[in-house]
Amino acid sequence: MRTPLLEIQNLNKAFGGLKVTRDVSLSLRAGERIGLIGPNGAGKSTLVNLVTGLLPPSSGTVRLLGVDVTRAGQAERVRRGLVRTFQVTQLAPTLTVRSQVELAIHEREGTVRNMWRPASRFPVHAEEARAILAQLQMLEIADERPIDLAYGQQRLVEIAIAMALRPRVLLLDEPMAGVPSGERQVVLNALATLPPTLGLLMIEHDMDLIFSFAHRILVLAEGAVLADGPPAEIRRHAAVQQAYLGTEAAR
Ligand SMILES: Nc1ncnc2c1ncn2[C@@H]1O[C@H](COP(=O)(O)OP(=O)(O)OP(=O)(O)O)[C@@H](O)[C@H]1O
Ligand SMILES: [Mg+2]
Repeated sequence: MRTPLLEIQNLNKAFGGLKVTRDVSLSLRAGERIGLIGPNGAGKSTLVNLVTGLLPPSSGTVRLLGVDVTRAGQAERVRRGLVRTFQVTQLAPTLTVRSQVELAIHEREGTVRNMWRPASRFPVHAEEARAILAQLQMLEIADERPIDLAYGQQRLVEIAIAMALRPRVLLLDEPMAGVPSGERQVVLNALATLPPTLGLLMIEHDMDLIFSFAHRILVLAEGAVLADGPPAEIRRHAAVQQAYLGTEAAR
């Protein structure tokens, strides 16, 4: 079998006495779409933070393409192809969309220090940024600034920046958070254009999106894996219904 792109083994994290990640194991293969769900405070964002190196785990290992990166910094993980977006937007509000994508390409290529050279000196980067924006159907907003964009479009900018880092694994922390229903389709369309070989893990509270998008769903409750399986199985899972879906449906 192919080496998983991402392999998490027996990951644990405690904040003081509070255990927020309990023995979580997971593997993600090329082309796989995994949905990570669970009630508020279940430890979803913490798990992503452990995987990306924003937080050190208390124990356990994280492997990227077979390489142990448990103690690697965030930048090294990005270079190895692990890229994430945040639950709360982290965009520069007043830089144009195009510039932000170009900047991410410069970051990837290590040419940031030279970015004050005229843009014409980097036609390859400019063309690559244009291609990313075209693929995500964002050319119309390429010269806008995030503060002038609708929230759904801002989420797209984050995805474009993430794609500029050439991920093998992309972690999306609630791409629909704060997106009004009228703008959701824009985000859905963009997600549908992502390369099929990408390994994708998405945290999302929108069950319709998760169940239509994911090949596999991992359910966290109180930091531990409650269930891990294909959507149809998760839907029937009694403990999941009780811990999560039941409460959602009851809302
Ligand atoms: N830096 C921290 N210090 C202490 N406790 C933390 C810290 N970060 C998270 N926690 C706690 O860890 C638990 C899991 O939080 P986390 O943000 O991972 O949940 P989540 O599943 O992403 O929730 P949500 O659906 O609300 O985004 C919560 O009880 C939270 O209060
Ligand atoms: Mg969260």
